[in-house]
Amino acid sequence: MSVEILLTGANGQVGWEVERRAATHGVKVRALARNELDISDRAAVKHTIAEHAPKVVINAAAYTAVDKAESEKDLAFAVNRDGAAHVAEACAASGASLIHFSTDYVFDGAKSGPYVETDPVNPVSVYGASKLAGEDAIRTAAPRHIILRTAWVYGVHGHNFVKTMLRLGRERPELRVVDDQRGCPTFAGDLADAALALARRALAGSMTEGGYGTFHCVGSGEVTWCGFTRKIIGLAGTRLGQTPKITAITTADYPTPARRPANSVLDSTKLARVHGLTLRPWPEALAEMLDTVLDGEQHK
Ligand SMILES: NC(=O)c1ccc[n+]([C@@H]2O[C@H](COP(=O)([O-])OP(=O)(O)OC[C@H]3O[C@@H](n4cnc5c(N)ncnc54)[C@H](OP(=O)(O)O)[C@@H]3O)[C@@H](O)[C@H]2O)c1
Repeated sequence: MSVEILLTGANGQVGWEVERRAATHGVKVRALARNELDISDRAAVKHTIAEHAPKVVINAAAYTAVDKAESEKDLAFAVNRDGAAHVAEACAASGASLIHFSTDYVFDGAKSGPYVETDPVNPVSVYGASKLAGEDAIRTAAPRHIILRTAWVYGVHGHNFVKTMLRLGRERPELRVVDDQRGCPTFAGDLADAALALARRALAGSMTEGGYGTFHCVGSGEVTWCGFTRKIIGLAGTRLGQTPKITAITTADYPTPARRPANSVLDSTKLARVHGLTLRPWPEALAEMLDTVLDGEQHK
């Protein structure tokens, strides 16, 4: 049985959006959640990809618990390095193109401007190191790959920073949020649309050699976590039931097990130049996500 696109990690923020948006891109997706395909199981990955013989695999499966990874290194690497390698090997064996997601956390954040794809990597967390190892494994095993490095992902489905701020914004009089880490909030739906547009191109056989490789793919614009929170609370407005005070704090005020880069800003110009794809300004995408989440709640 041959399918167009095989999707792993179908129950994650990005996987969920890929499955739901496939039809609007005119493509068919066979979506597998973790209980249907565990990418850390090499034999299962090999068997499943050989059985379905997809033309494109979108790997949205990953270990994403950034802080927990510091104490679960083996598990993080089993999924993010070995799992990525298994998918890449199986894609190479079956002739499928691979679209994979990586992270801003492959960088150390010391650069003063936005990161481009060729900037030196230097992860400062276990999660970042495991994702970088996954990138390397894919580059080694699968010549026809697209690695989309993304950042600060939030979606309608799953747990994320936006939903946490909405919950805390209802519960607490004050939100204290880190204001010395900058990044690019990225709506999972917009990222899924970009991945599906690329998959469609690969399916059509219209991908040139330069179309493969590593690309940064984040929402347009940049902000700190605190600035992001101000926008979330501002856009939520009266739908929150109260307006909490928002106080800027520093990373030192909010210690976490994993270190995070101070500068996580990614430059997505290459994706625009090579593929004509640009994700919309992050506040626009955020407004749409909030309408879906908050207005959906009102209708329950
Ligand atoms: N979230 C972010 O802010 C962010 C930032 C930069 C890059 N990324 C990257 O973007 C991609 C998508 O992230 P996301 O936000 O959609 O993450 P997510 O919501 O955590 O989804 C990841 C999915 O992978 C599944 N999974 C975990 N281990 C697996 C395994 N061994 N085999 C198969 N599936 C497994 C999880 O299953 P369960 O549902 O059962 O846990 C989950 O459904 C990932 O590559 C991530 O590294 C994310």
